[in-house]
Amino acid sequence: MNNLIGIEQLNKEEIIELLELTKDIEDNPKKYLKKLEDKSLATLFFQDSTRTRLSSSLAMQKLGGKVIELDKAKFNEEMGEEESFEDIIKVVGDYVDIICLRHSDEKSPNHAGSLTKAKIINCGNGRDQHPTQALLDLYTIWKEFKRLHNLNIVIVGDLKHSRSAHSLFIALSFFEKNKIKLISPNIFKMPKRYFSLIRNEIDINKTEKFELENEDIIYMAGFPIVEKYDNYFLYDLSIDKVKNLKETSIIMCPLPRIGEIKKEVDALPQARYFQQSKNGIFVRMAIFIKLLEGLNE
Ligand code: CP
Repeated sequence: MNNLIGIEQLNKEEIIELLELTKDIEDNPKKYLKKLEDKSLATLFFQDSTRTRLSSSLAMQKLGGKVIELDKAKFNEEMGEEESFEDIIKVVGDYVDIICLRHSDEKSPNHAGSLTKAKIINCGNGRDQHPTQALLDLYTIWKEFKRLHNLNIVIVGDLKHSRSAHSLFIALSFFEKNKIKLISPNIFKMPKRYFSLIRNEIDINKTEKFELENEDIIYMAGFPIVEKYDNYFLYDLSIDKVKNLKETSIIMCPLPRIGEIKKEVDALPQARYFQQSKNGIFVRMAIFIKLLEGLNE
């Protein structure tokens, strides 16, 4: 990997290799304590984040590397007039080996990549993609089912604007015989451009019907621009809607949730979203190692 911008850059062999490394890191964290001790990371988040920013920072620290962070609020407050994106990337790119970038502009990760030799990791580019989220989603699924193929998956929510849904949808298509059901209101269908990135002949069912009984994975993508949609509650997950789930099903969500999973669901044995979020630390450790592989030799 050079930069990680879109999940379509990877193939299934590379993904499995990354997940195996992730598992080894999770099982043997001491082995990796100094793995990137001479490396450094900057988190440049021009949009809010809890999980991605903190877990990226912690991941680098757990590998012995250094982390510098640019706080979005401070950046806006103290700069008065905003410094240009280009100047920030050039300056920070000279400080560190990796930049974790979140920005509202879809083109920002590629643009950043053209400005610096530091590796760029897209941690969310507007409403487009969130590849590290997809990888931690895949890791959560892989740990649970011991495979990434032949699964029944339903992705629910605003599939037009959810970058997590876009990246996961593309990634799941790399693996054979997955059946993917896309449940969303008609106005929030998955955009066509993501279908053009699909790799296998997967079984896709686009529907508004909220039927979950036969699914292995229920992925609640949420409603990122909920204020523009009044009926999002029709697509939320309450105890009633999950009472017929298979025992072996899992419920996932990239978080944060804005009511799309009722708190009462947290106690169900199928709920996996907090473990999923924790998995982000190990997956990001593996991503950093893979991105910098070769530099340490
Ligand atoms: N899942 C996710 O991207 O969460 P944050 O917005 O908190 O980073």
